[in-house]
Amino acid sequence: MSWWWAGTIGAAKARPTKHQSVALVVGVTGIVGNSLAEILPLSDTPGGPWKVYGIARRPQPSWNADHPITYIQCDISDPQQTRHKLSKLIDVTHIFYATWSSRPTEPENCAVNGAMLRNVLEAVIPHAPNLQHICLQTGRKHYVGPFAMQGQIKLNDSPYHENLPRLDTPNFYYVQEDILMEEVKKKEGLTWSVHRPSVIFGFSPYSLINIVGCLCVYAAICKHEGTKLKFPGTRVGWEDYMDASDAELTAEQLIWAAVDPNAKNEAFNCSNGDVYKWKHLWKALAQKFEVEYEEFVDGGERLTLEEMMKDKGEVWDQIVKKKGLVPTKLEEVGCWWIADYVLTYGTILDSMNKSKEHGFFGFRNSISSFASWIDKMKAYKIVP
Ligand SMILES: NC(=O)c1ccc[n+]([C@@H]2O[C@H](COP(=O)([O-])OP(=O)(O)OC[C@H]3O[C@@H](n4cnc5c(N)ncnc54)[C@H](OP(=O)(O)O)[C@@H]3O)[C@@H](O)[C@H]2O)c1
Repeated sequence: MSWWWAGTIGAAKARPTKHQSVALVVGVTGIVGNSLAEILPLSDTPGGPWKVYGIARRPQPSWNADHPITYIQCDISDPQQTRHKLSKLIDVTHIFYATWSSRPTEPENCAVNGAMLRNVLEAVIPHAPNLQHICLQTGRKHYVGPFAMQGQIKLNDSPYHENLPRLDTPNFYYVQEDILMEEVKKKEGLTWSVHRPSVIFGFSPYSLINIVGCLCVYAAICKHEGTKLKFPGTRVGWEDYMDASDAELTAEQLIWAAVDPNAKNEAFNCSNGDVYKWKHLWKALAQKFEVEYEEFVDGGERLTLEEMMKDKGEVWDQIVKKKGLVPTKLEEVGCWWIADYVLTYGTILDSMNKSKEHGFFGFRNSISSFASWIDKMKAYKIVP
């Protein structure tokens, strides 16, 4: 039984001395990047033993520093800096691209995210003679379009499958895919894979979008102020079927695609393989923070987290101090707009058939996944 069949990560953590593969994880402190940094160095990870370079702009945070990786600070939106720092990594065999930058409009997103990916590929491909494979992480917006254009686009029917035609709208994922296809042609035998997770359940406090982290912060503020945990969504958000993508599962799928010949030059959806309802997760969230919660009620005024949390910066500072948490600012850990978005829409699912047909059988129980990432946020003292 192969490793992803078993769906388990081995316990052996000794740092190997001889490497079979060398990973460049771009966005190594991000929600999936941090899981890649955790899994790749393990002694039983497929394709290993792996040596791992990890890229991000800020200094390496304490919660990422446990992983045996070589951390490189580099702003990949700067072409000179990227060329200078990444062209030296001549032993890279696999690139895991798990980062993005958010701009107010999609044409701006296309420009900045296209340039970031191109900067990395132009810096590495000509200088890494053993480069074999590039994994590009994009997401569900491939099928539903950019955040800013929700409601304005005619969508295909869900569950989404990988062969659906592109939407007729600008989308930075399409730009990235096109750049990837262009760049891989520059080196004979170089292969690629694209990975499209749904909303990701994971850990990183440095992530631009971390729904679990953001809801933990909201629950901690409710607990501190003695208020009920109200559901800031809609009726369909409360009780329609939803899916999610565990960050560790996503990392496992990327690694599988990097090393398995059956996964080359393909795009794959990447979700947990089950469905849940937010009303069930809401109860779990309330229990973890020992706070009373309210069921969704029809007819009431729609509460948005953006509105409810707008003056809570000082409250969060007090909680961080009182509970001895890792110092963070509310605007870093509370990306309210994404929770307001995710808790509002009805059932949109994808199909994992293609991924399974190609040999990736990983899955997660979404309710356990949600609970385990809350536990990790607490264990690393990001939330109380
Ligand atoms: N998060 C989700 O729920 C979700 C769901 C579905 C799809 N996606 C998609 O997945 C892809 C990857 O996003 P993610 O959410 O995994 O990333 P993320 O958690 O936001 O992490 C971004 C990572 O990249 C680094 N970074 C950002 N800008 C950089 C730059 N200019 N130079 C170097 N490093 C930089 C960040 O650290 P520094 O800030 O320190 O540089 C961080 O390590 C995106 O296309 C996103 O749309 C995300």
